[in-house]
Amino acid sequence: MSKVLVAYASKCGSTGEVAQAIAQSLCAQGMTVDVRRVDEVSDVAGYDAFVVGSAIRMGSWLGEAKRFVETNVATLRGAPTAYFTVHMLNLDDSAESQAARAAYVAPVHAIMQPQAEAFFAGKLDLDRMSFVDRMISKMMKANNEDKRDWAAIEAWAGELLPQATSAA
Ligand SMILES: Cc1cc2nc3c(=O)[nH]c(=O)nc-3n(C[C@H](O)[C@H](O)[C@H](O)COP(=O)(O)O)c2cc1C
Repeated sequence: MSKVLVAYASKCGSTGEVAQAIAQSLCAQGMTVDVRRVDEVSDVAGYDAFVVGSAIRMGSWLGEAKRFVETNVATLRGAPTAYFTVHMLNLDDSAESQAARAAYVAPVHAIMQPQAEAFFAGKLDLDRMSFVDRMISKMMKANNEDKRDWAAIEAWAGELLPQATSAA
């Protein structure tokens, strides 16, 4: 049985819920899964595969998620590793959106390329934001909205199992 770590960074909680959904799908397929915030992971030893994700803030993964990849790159390179990104803009298939999504993850790709990757629509929750983030969101005329597609998240997690077991 493979043991998987799903490690994520989140400001307002929606990326954590996506991480939990990915973990549930992997568990349902017989994997043993730990779900942890990146800053709560003390040791990456003992895992057969990794799923690392982050919310996007101002065009970038959260710093702690990038640092997690940097710190643990030697271990992550030696095992199947997938990235997921949760965001609200640039969700369509236009060339501009694709370029924006590529830019979101360019710094973590520069550290190491993942075996699998997904971009998921997220959630805006003004009540859970810091004062500054709420001001930025209001300036951008953003409203509370939950665009998460649980079926798409589950489908992606369902496809990770063969990749993880075949590469492990
Ligand atoms: C201040 C702020 C900046 C954001 N910047 C971006 C961005 O540059 N691109 C994007 O696609 N989404 C952006 N988002 C949307 C978040 O990535 C999205 O709401 C995500 O689901 C938040 O995850 P969390 O609840 O785990 O923090 C931003 C949200 C906030 C509040």
